[in-house]
Amino acid sequence: MFHSDNLSINEQNHLTIGVHDAVELAKEYGTPLYILDEDMIRKNCQAYKEAMDQYYDGNGLVLFASKALCTLYTSKLVAQEGLGADAVSGGELYTLHKAGFPMEKVFFHGNNKTRSEIELALELGVGHIVVDNRYELDLLNEVAGERNVTQKILFRIKPGVDAHTHDFVKTGQIDSKFGVALENGEAFEIYAYAATLKNIQIDGVHCHIGSQIFDVDPFHEAARVMIDFMAQLYEKLSLKVRILNLGGGFGIKYAPEDDPLPAAEYIQKAVKTVKKLTAEKGMELPYLVFEPGRSIVASAGVTLYTVGGIKEIENVRTYVSVDGGMCDNPRYILYGAKYTAVLANNASAQPIAPVTIAGRCCESGDLIQEHVMMPKIKVGDTLAVLATGAYNYSMSSNYNRLPRPAIVALKGEEKKVIVKRETYEDIIRNDVL
Ligand code: LLP
Repeated sequence: MFHSDNLSINEQNHLTIGVHDAVELAKEYGTPLYILDEDMIRKNCQAYKEAMDQYYDGNGLVLFASKALCTLYTSKLVAQEGLGADAVSGGELYTLHKAGFPMEKVFFHGNNKTRSEIELALELGVGHIVVDNRYELDLLNEVAGERNVTQKILFRIKPGVDAHTHDFVKTGQIDSKFGVALENGEAFEIYAYAATLKNIQIDGVHCHIGSQIFDVDPFHEAARVMIDFMAQLYEKLSLKVRILNLGGGFGIKYAPEDDPLPAAEYIQKAVKTVKKLTAEKGMELPYLVFEPGRSIVASAGVTLYTVGGIKEIENVRTYVSVDGGMCDNPRYILYGAKYTAVLANNASAQPIAPVTIAGRCCESGDLIQEHVMMPKIKVGDTLAVLATGAYNYSMSSNYNRLPRPAIVALKGEEKKVIVKRETYEDIIRNDVL
């Protein structure tokens, strides 16, 4: 009935997540509440890892893109499953470090890393830095020089591929703030220049074309463009780079019509293309890196809310207000993102009328979903929004001084708070005067 196989309905007609009753979870921990199915996250990590082993003899690494969900607990979990990590800020690096993450398996991204973040990365022994631009390259060479170390790098390249996704999450085209372009020679020049720098070791190429992509063709196209570029680096600069990092972006199911491929199939298809294209050029197989974020954690997350005021505006619409909103899930207001909502305390009830699920922030656009068919909803009901594990907690805010919800992880029968609910004291913690 639901699009994730860890979700079901029990005899009380309540939504269950793993073996847990969602309504009981809401009662026990309060709402709004983020639930994370740890078993599912582990399975997703394993599926990626096994696919790399099976189709590519393990000659590569799958990184979890921390930006999708970055906590100490999830970082530990990803490390235990043998994945690497993509980090994009000092805060993410620090979290990984504090979680005991093997920092040599970390790739540090970002289009405007600060000097202090670069210093932190070197201090913590980050394996690879994905350099975005010439300014950053010089800065990194300088910082590495001061420490007398050589830093392994990749460059972020815009392969000029259209990813068929929302404009805000497209990143592979020339008009993007990320990376260096191929078509105007910028990418080639930066490699030639980097090869002259003393404290830099060029180790590969990177691209990331966008997020929530279902179609595999753009990934194939990106792989083709990148392999061509690697061949060019060798021919023209005698530069042999080892790593081909094709980024993340694999889509997941938010709504019934979404039809993503299983993780293993994305990897299998990409690997096939990489093998074919490198063989055609007589190149060695590269060390292959992928950076999925959403497809590892999104489906493992469910947000639970309690229904408050309901406003039936005749001939207009019905607003059902919940005790969270854009502060815990800004994806609708940002991207018009689709979600599936379930009336957790009457989970098999038939939908009868369209409603708009509204948040509680002072903002008309603060909605979770508009015009969705739902059963009869009343005050005090528990509403579950599915597939909120990615880019919800990590993009949450304290707008209107609302404390962030807790995160509860489920592992078989076990359940534990992995991130505490914020308090009003937390809200004023940094107000010093
Ligand atoms: N690698 C790089 C360099 C990235 O920029 C991203 C995502 C990923 C990997 C992971 O992509 P994923 O597998 O999660 O699609 N806030 C937006 C998504 C922004 C994605 C940013 N970069 C959303 O909520 O849809």
